[in-house]
Amino acid sequence: MPDLRGRSVIVTGGARGIGAAIARTLVDAGAGVIVADLLDQAGKATAETLGSRAMFCHLDVTDEDQWRLVLDEAEATFGPLAVLVNNAGIVDFGGIESEAPAMFRHVLDVNLVGPWLGMHHAAPRLRAAGDGVIVNVSSTAGLIGYSGIAGYVASKWGLRGLTKAAALELGDAGVRVCSVHPGPIRTPMTADLDPNMAAGQPLARFGEPEEVADMVRFIVEQATYSTGSEFVLDGGSTVGLTVAGPATDAS
Ligand SMILES: NC(=O)c1ccc[n+]([C@@H]2O[C@H](COP(=O)([O-])OP(=O)(O)OC[C@H]3O[C@@H](n4cnc5c(N)ncnc54)[C@H](O)[C@@H]3O)[C@@H](O)[C@H]2O)c1
Repeated sequence: MPDLRGRSVIVTGGARGIGAAIARTLVDAGAGVIVADLLDQAGKATAETLGSRAMFCHLDVTDEDQWRLVLDEAEATFGPLAVLVNNAGIVDFGGIESEAPAMFRHVLDVNLVGPWLGMHHAAPRLRAAGDGVIVNVSSTAGLIGYSGIAGYVASKWGLRGLTKAAALELGDAGVRVCSVHPGPIRTPMTADLDPNMAAGQPLARFGEPEEVADMVRFIVEQATYSTGSEFVLDGGSTVGLTVAGPATDAS
């Protein structure tokens, strides 16, 4: 990736949690960053803490017209687009039998159709710039299954596949497309989850948003031969199962 100075970056869901940490890290890297989110108050507050190289834009990722406006605003304010981080996401807790169909569709709309719309409108601009990076924030739920959040799992597997399809189509334009797969990260999204959820992982703790942000910065700046690739940061939660075999006598 060339110098991010004089280039714009869009981080969706940038008002809080992982997105806010990514926005902060990419401002540090020299970019002009659009904090794009549904949450106007929180988004403005986050952008203000980041200084003059950050700006809030209202964006519902499911709204195609809003994508056009945000992309125009980004390039008019900070220069040609260099990076799109599709980070906005939601989770709905509900089993296959109990979840309302409308909610299942809504999760897919935000977590999968939203990033597709972003790539659909960002790709021609990145192609025109001659280079760029798209980072799609999937999840370990895009690598394995989880019960009780089927829509989320389906959306994150979908986003992983979409990443590979886009990587194939955009490589000739010098545009790399990668997915990130965090395990449990301490954010508002996970605030109500069992704090012991990570206890069985090799690294038995929740991750921090800054750890995801550092991975995203690595993909943007350093991973110059990676496209269509999956970057996992999950404390080892998807590595495998521990076998409880017969007790062995070590003496
Ligand atoms: N926290 C975790 O443990 C974890 C793990 C794996 C993946 N992820 C993924 O990381 C991303 C960020 O999650 P987080 O934990 O920071 O969650 P969060 O709920 O703290 O933040 C998500 C942000 O996305 C915004 N958003 C939601 N719907 C939107 C829409 N339609 N348009 C624009 N913005 C919208 C929200 O307003 C919020 O600011 C999500 O895609 C999530 O699925 C999170």
